[in-house]
Amino acid sequence: MSGPFLSSSGAPPPEPAIRIREFNLWYGTFQALFDINLEIKNGLITSLIGPSGCGKSTLLRSVDRINERLGYVRIRGSIEVFGQEIHAPQVEPAQLRKQVGMVFQRPNPLPISIRDNVLFGYRIHHEKGGRLARSEADGIVEEALRQVLLWDQVKDRLDHKATDGLSLEAMQKLCIARLLPVKPSILLMDEPCSALDPRGTAAVEELIWELRDRYSILIVTHNMAQARRASDECVFMLMGRVVEHAPTDQLFVTPAHRETADYIEGRFG
Ligand SMILES: Nc1ncnc2c1ncn2[C@@H]1O[C@H](COP(=O)(O)OP(=O)(O)OP(=O)(O)O)[C@@H](O)[C@H]1O
Ligand SMILES: [Mg+2]
Repeated sequence: MSGPFLSSSGAPPPEPAIRIREFNLWYGTFQALFDINLEIKNGLITSLIGPSGCGKSTLLRSVDRINERLGYVRIRGSIEVFGQEIHAPQVEPAQLRKQVGMVFQRPNPLPISIRDNVLFGYRIHHEKGGRLARSEADGIVEEALRQVLLWDQVKDRLDHKATDGLSLEAMQKLCIARLLPVKPSILLMDEPCSALDPRGTAAVEELIWELRDRYSILIVTHNMAQARRASDECVFMLMGRVVEHAPTDQLFVTPAHRETADYIEGRFG
């Protein structure tokens, strides 16, 4: 017999990467998120879409506990990452961010060498990070840059400053690369292609596809074509609420809600 927790093979399904329950968030007195319930599956790419101001970035930042830096943010509800409540008193934000890496809209490399950018997070998260042997560090740098398809382009200038002379596309790939040595399980991406030209967008999208087997990816996008092409599941938000969460094909072809249909057909947002 197969109940809700058994797949047809009898094996339990993999735990969701992220489980959000009854999550609400206020900026001061303004409520930005309402009763969010969402399970983001392990090993898939899930895109998060919806009109400007609907709370996509707020939700993404909540998963990495970035909003709480603002003193006037208040939350209620639960977010679990692989079964662990991220707001539990024993969870340090730094420890959470080791497992959940974030890529922002504007590429934000540090004004240090390409090599040191890639090693930066690793050094923070690993005790011996500051005392890495040169050969070990070289291996980490090469592997991360190869994974983001940037190695051939930068291998001869690893000691150049990352903020000088790299295209936006290369900088964004570098910002993804620097997350990888920390070995996160989940990558959150907030419109990672929005600052890029069409060629750069295509290249970074290709990279996201390359990463899909190794990471669970939750990506915010305004680009319907990107959501459709590049994700397995899709979440549509409106005014601080999740309206619909479905396999991407289903959400685009046979949306269950009128608002979803209106949005994906470009009638608002
Ligand atoms: N730091 C903040 N302080 C106060 N209000 C905020 C803050 N950040 C966002 N908001 C408000 O919360 C709501 C959701 O914003 P959010 O940035 O999450 O939307 P979004 O869906 O990411 O929009 P966009 O598509 O434009 O990036 C908006 O009304 C916004 O004005
Ligand atoms: Mg946003």
